[in-house]
Amino acid sequence: MKKLIVANWKMHPDSAKNAVSLAAKIEKGIPKSNKAEVVIAPPFPFLEDVKKVLKNSKLGAQDVFFENKGAYTGEVSPSMLKSSGVEYVIIGHSENRKLGETDAIINKKIKATLKEGLKVILCVGEGLEIRKKGLSSAKNFVQAQLKKDIPTTNYKLPTTQLVVAYEPVWAISTNKNSKPDRPEDSAEMIKYIKQILHSKFYILNSRVVYGGSVNSRNAKNFLQYKEIDGALIGGASLKAEEFIKIINIK
Ligand code: PGA
Repeated sequence: MKKLIVANWKMHPDSAKNAVSLAAKIEKGIPKSNKAEVVIAPPFPFLEDVKKVLKNSKLGAQDVFFENKGAYTGEVSPSMLKSSGVEYVIIGHSENRKLGETDAIINKKIKATLKEGLKVILCVGEGLEIRKKGLSSAKNFVQAQLKKDIPTTNYKLPTTQLVVAYEPVWAISTNKNSKPDRPEDSAEMIKYIKQILHSKFYILNSRVVYGGSVNSRNAKNFLQYKEIDGALIGGASLKAEEFIKIINIK
């Protein structure tokens, strides 16, 4: 399976022009015989402009609402994202959880997004206090998140539709004193997440990626593990050269 490399631009860059120019630069750096599946997730207002310059990569969104239409000021529905050409939707990012997004909301967002036929990238991961207690405490925390966040459906989920991103909150580059996880610990956690997906949700072969301070110097340390199906990249995805190096890792 191809590695999935996702650019999470967060609230950057500052204009549609700069977003298009960054996307176009990244596109140029994707080799024809690309070994990776590349997703670019710009802010909502730039989705359609960025989509126009994408050829070998796919369009992602950074969030979504759980209803398809109605009186919900400021919200954006799964069907709207679909009509803008979005294929992947990031849901449950720790930056949104920190602002009050609950597991119950995340569950509803995932359900609505899958129903629309879009692919979900569900972000899970423990905070520093939990990780300090050890990897097994972190596993318990992540297991609880998965159980609360993934909707139980009465149909078998197509495995390619749900991607999980393991992002330990303390490893995300914008957090104080952040540093990437040890790749061997991420690989162990990701193996564990796959076991949970299989045993609790009957989801086999789902892709699980790592996120948190990934850059061109450390990406290979993560991607070399067969368990780690790719990376969710924030800061390093805003520099075209840096992101292209990651995409081209063999
Ligand atoms: P980072 O962000 O690569 O800047 O650590 C990752 C993320 O928040 O998704």
